[in-house]
Amino acid sequence: MGTYEDIFRASVSDRERFWLDAADALEWHKAPSKALDDSRPPFYRWFPDGELNVSYNALDRHADGGRGDQPALIHDSPVTGTKTTYTYSRLRDEVATFAGALRDMGVGTGDRVVIYMPMVPEAAVAMLACARLGAVHSVVFGGFAAKELAVRIDDASPVVVVSASCGIEGSRVIEYKPLLDKAIELAAHKPAKSVVLQRPQAKATLGEGDVDWAEACAAAEPAAPVPVKSTDPLYVLYTSGTTGKPKGVVRDGGGYATALAWSMTNVYDVGPGQTLFTASDVGWVVGHSYIVYAPLLVGATSVLYEGKPVGTPDAGQFWRVASEYGVRSMFTAPTAFRALKKEDPNGDHAREYDLSSLKYLFLAGERLDPETYRWASELLQIPVIDHWWQTETGWPIVANPAGIELLPVKPGSPTKPLPGWDIQVLDGDGKPVPTGTNGAIVAKLPMPPGSLPTLWNDDERFVSSYMSAFDGFYLTGDGGYLDEDGYLYVMGRTDDVINVAGHRLSTGGMEEVLAGHPDVAECAVIGVADQLKGQVPRGFVVLKSGVDAGADGYEEGLRAELVQMVRDQVGAVASLKEVSVVAALPKTRSGKILRKTMRNIAEGTDEPVPGTIDDASVLDALRPVLRNE
Ligand code: COA
Ligand code: AMP
Repeated sequence: MGTYEDIFRASVSDRERFWLDAADALEWHKAPSKALDDSRPPFYRWFPDGELNVSYNALDRHADGGRGDQPALIHDSPVTGTKTTYTYSRLRDEVATFAGALRDMGVGTGDRVVIYMPMVPEAAVAMLACARLGAVHSVVFGGFAAKELAVRIDDASPVVVVSASCGIEGSRVIEYKPLLDKAIELAAHKPAKSVVLQRPQAKATLGEGDVDWAEACAAAEPAAPVPVKSTDPLYVLYTSGTTGKPKGVVRDGGGYATALAWSMTNVYDVGPGQTLFTASDVGWVVGHSYIVYAPLLVGATSVLYEGKPVGTPDAGQFWRVASEYGVRSMFTAPTAFRALKKEDPNGDHAREYDLSSLKYLFLAGERLDPETYRWASELLQIPVIDHWWQTETGWPIVANPAGIELLPVKPGSPTKPLPGWDIQVLDGDGKPVPTGTNGAIVAKLPMPPGSLPTLWNDDERFVSSYMSAFDGFYLTGDGGYLDEDGYLYVMGRTDDVINVAGHRLSTGGMEEVLAGHPDVAECAVIGVADQLKGQVPRGFVVLKSGVDAGADGYEEGLRAELVQMVRDQVGAVASLKEVSVVAALPKTRSGKILRKTMRNIAEGTDEPVPGTIDDASVLDALRPVLRNE
């Protein structure tokens, strides 16, 4: 082994050796002779001549290598009152059968499959079945509305969509099939088939082109893993950018699997036979990486939890799960802990369970506020590890590498860059800022394996979004600073992306919806601080002249309509609850809306108003609205 410093240094001094050694953790159909292909910057490729199958590495190798009877995946669902354990043998068999079913529907290597499912084990089965065939999955988070699903269907042009009859949100049953039907109606691309998993809580009516999951599996022969190139896409995961059109982050197979396996050992400190509980959703990158792929790649056990930290049935479920399955590392978003703290401030529920197996709590997805860090640390008396990464990177950029050694914690910082990451902070001219000074957080190219090689069908947007601001660097979209010990502090996004309860959303996308109302002339959506969710969106609209805003109940009705429009077109997960009708929006002289200034005022931070403001009286009139006075 070695210390963090030794290992980091090794990754810099001999990058080729470092990542080829890391790739040895996998079983390759054809072992790579070379780690990095840097012949076409900024399009870097990892293990260019390697061939493997990620599903084989996640399943068969363990099922046939002595772990056949070990739990691979445990579905724990307090909202349905069920618990199901899949051993490595069972999971491999179910994945092989579903892969056979997909193949029967015409899915082959390189074809896309969209997966729109709640937190059921079949979501993981579907992902791994695609990987088995060398097909490319694209999982869409179940909280997104039909329109968002339609946009993703059009971009990914899948042969098949896989869904379920319903999801369960607390005590509510949410029917998925009407949303799926609506999305297919809205999309220009029509998938050949839709597979529907029938759940007992709500059965869906199947129509032409629909296939029942159980019937498809009953008729299928198991499919063998298909070796593919390391650089072939394993999946496309859409994430929010600054406009309504999401970015299709592409993930290759070999680089990603290598990075994930490395991170399980060196960051999460979870190995074969040990248990990782990641409370997220398979629709987000955290779910892709640390519910599905990473734990299985190293022969560990993963818990797929269907439910919230609080509510049905109580705020003790995380602790019950940790205790029942002997969880070693747990991973969730800080917002989940804020929800727990609100519901159970003294942590009484945690004390009802034996948590002696739990060694670490990992938190990511949004900034970990020092108060939540303190509460969780005092309650659990184990290391609470903040770490920073993004959909684009696929695995942590900056973390406390628990599997190597625990570095001293500085609350508010996710600690130090992991091997492969050269993290710098630049000013607007691309010059490094002095220690302790805020700037744009960037990663020097090339980034390590696992990070995005491009955007789906859009090399141009890949370059313009990430690679153009500073030559030779990847723009993370986050701002922050490095301290004198090399610790990074991530202060928030510098673009129009917000983070609501750990869910990444685009304010630009919400603005497009509000602007679609016939009475709205212009609008702005900003993210404002929220005690529970970290941030929530707030909308501001200016009405078209001639609209009779004074009419009885008009404003109230309009606000409700706008909130509903965002719910219907983006999804409930947007959590836009507040829209204000205002006379005008503050702008610069060149007409740019001063969203950051609005946000500062709403949050009570008195930053100076920019000198380029067009008409300061507009801001004066808006101030009481922003401050809810
Ligand atoms: N399908 C359908 N609807 C969904 C959904 C899904 N998969 N996920 C969320 N929604 C709905 C919720 O029911 C809620 O609807 P409502 O406005 O009618 O109540 C809305 O979207 C907002 O959801 P959310 O932001 O999750 O708020 P919440 O109040 O239901 O729960 C938390 C808040 C903090 C408890 C919850 O977000 C949480 O546990 N988050 C942490 C874990 C996590 O998922 N992190 C993600 C990345 S690591
Ligand atoms: P996502 O792509 O959904 O994983 O969201 C990534 C974004 O979440 C990052 O760009 C950050 O803005 C934010 N984020 C994730 N982890 C952290 C963290 N530990 N601290 C601060 N912000 C974080």
